[in-house]
Amino acid sequence: MALFEVRGVRKAFARQVVLDELDFDIFEREVVTIIGESGSGKSILLKALMGLIEIDAGTIRFDDKVVSGASEKEWMRIRRRIGMLFQESALFDSLNVYENVAYALREQTDMTDEEIAKRVDETLTLVGLPGIEAMWPADLSGGMRKRVALARAVAVRPEIVFYDEPAEGLDPINVTRVNRLLLGLQKSLNVTSVVVTHNLKAAFAISDRLALIHDGKVAATGVPKSFLDSQDPIVREFIGERMRRVLRAS
Ligand SMILES: Nc1ncnc2c1ncn2[C@@H]1O[C@H](COP(=O)(O)OP(=O)(O)O)[C@@H](O)[C@H]1O
Ligand SMILES: [Mg+2]
Repeated sequence: MALFEVRGVRKAFARQVVLDELDFDIFEREVVTIIGESGSGKSILLKALMGLIEIDAGTIRFDDKVVSGASEKEWMRIRRRIGMLFQESALFDSLNVYENVAYALREQTDMTDEEIAKRVDETLTLVGLPGIEAMWPADLSGGMRKRVALARAVAVRPEIVFYDEPAEGLDPINVTRVNRLLLGLQKSLNVTSVVVTHNLKAAFAISDRLALIHDGKVAATGVPKSFLDSQDPIVREFIGERMRRVLRAS
């Protein structure tokens, strides 16, 4: 059974149809990566899955319940089960690292101060940054900020984590680090990970499955290797001959 089941979803902005009768499944405990040209609707799809935008038609089921069209109150309950690391998920600059990571624990749980302190410590350890509770966002490097944002996203121990362009703006060493971290969290927290990236090398390195969005639909999906061997012209053109050689060699 799919954790998320998307059927016939349509989303347009004025006359621009972004998602066009899109079908997509997300299965429990997989790492699935959504790839596609810039502007193809990857972020919009993630936002639809979190109820952050309304869809025009179709249905989204989560955990076997129809959630498209749910009230904001219901969506808030659903979002508690989802951790998100969005491109723009900046830290709160007026809060230190501890308060940033503790934020959702205070908002969404009945945990005591003692329990929160323990969870913050555990979570910073998970992202490889133990003991930095007292530091301020302004004192952190870009890579560290990204990892603290990830700690904040998973502090409540979500069942699913959404990553929108997690490698964006990071140098190659930090890209590798974030990818490794994603896979580490996947194991240690037993989550389902949904990633959006235009970094094909990263997508191939971390994913159980890829889904290519093209013309508002999932044009192809399968294990990464199937994309390399695909004869589908849409897939072949998206990956490109040069990248295909790079990926085959890696
Ligand atoms: N709030 C909005 N209003 C109008 N157009 C939007 C809005 N959000 C996204 N779009 C358009 O929808 C298309 C898909 O956007 P997006 O999902 O962000 O693409 P990407 O695949 O790069 O993540 C783009 O053409 C974008 O301009
Ligand atoms: Mg995007």
